[in-house]
Amino acid sequence: MKLASEQITSYDRDGFLVLENFVDAQACDQLRARAARLVRDFNPQGVVSVFSTHEQTRTSDDYFLESGDKIRFFFEENAFHSDGTLRQSKEHSINKIGHALHDLDPVFDKFSRTPQIKQLVSDLGLVDPLLLQSMYIFKQPRIGGEVTCHHDATFLYTEPLRLVGLWFALEDATIENGCLWAITGGHKLGLKSRFVRVEGGGTRCEVIDGTPWPEANLRPLEVKQGTVIVLHGLLPHLSRENRSSKSRHAYTLHFIDASAHYPGSNWLQRSAEMPLRGF
Ligand code: FE2
Repeated sequence: MKLASEQITSYDRDGFLVLENFVDAQACDQLRARAARLVRDFNPQGVVSVFSTHEQTRTSDDYFLESGDKIRFFFEENAFHSDGTLRQSKEHSINKIGHALHDLDPVFDKFSRTPQIKQLVSDLGLVDPLLLQSMYIFKQPRIGGEVTCHHDATFLYTEPLRLVGLWFALEDATIENGCLWAITGGHKLGLKSRFVRVEGGGTRCEVIDGTPWPEANLRPLEVKQGTVIVLHGLLPHLSRENRSSKSRHAYTLHFIDASAHYPGSNWLQRSAEMPLRGF
C-alpha cells in the first residue's frame, strides 16, 4: 500500500514514521526462529567480538570491519565474567548479528525484499534503492546494552545523503525492555560526525558539529510486534539498557540510493565479488 501524503509530510517533519502491522506475526516469528538457528550454529571459539557504543575502538577489530558482506555475531558488553567466561548461555549473550544477512541468508533475504518494503522505500524518495546493511538486534534480557544517541548517517554516509533505516519490531518494544527513543525533528540539525576507516587500520570518529544532542526532546517509541519504524538517516535516536526479563528483538535494514556516492572511507565496505543489490 502506498504511503498517504500526510504520512510523507509527517516523516519530513519528524524524521521518523511508525507503521503498525507492517509485517505479520508469522513473518516475525519465522525471522526469530531463523536467528535462533544461526546463533545455535555459531561457534564463538576464537572470534569473540563485543559490540559497544561506549568504547568504539574496541569494536573496531577486523572481525567487525570485515563484516559488511558477511554474517557475524557480536556479544553484549556485559555478557562476560571477569575471567572471560559467559555469564549466560550463548543464546542470551549475543547483542547482534550483522551485516549482510539480507544477501547471504535465504530467510532474511525473503523478509528484506518484499513488494511492501520496495513500495515503502520508493514512497520515501529512493529512486534506485540498494540494501546496504542488515542487523538482527537481540537486546537481551537483563544485559541488553545501551545504544547512545546517534544518527545512522554517521556510520553510513552518502553524498548527497540518501539513507533510510527500517526498524522492524519482532517483539513488543516498551520502555521497560529498551525501545527506541527519537528526537522529533532532530534530522534537521545536520550531520554531527562521521565514523570512518583510518589508513593503516582501525576507525576514528570525525566530529563535524560538537554541540550536544537536545536530549530533552527525546520521546519513546513504544511499538507492538510487526510495526516498522522508518528512520531518516539524520534522525537522532537511542535505546536504553534492557534490565527487564523480556528480550526486545528487532531487525533493521538500511537503504541508500544508487545515485548517491558511497565513500570508501565509510566503515562498511563490500568486496567486489559482492556488490550491493536492490530488490
Ligand atoms: Fe541507529
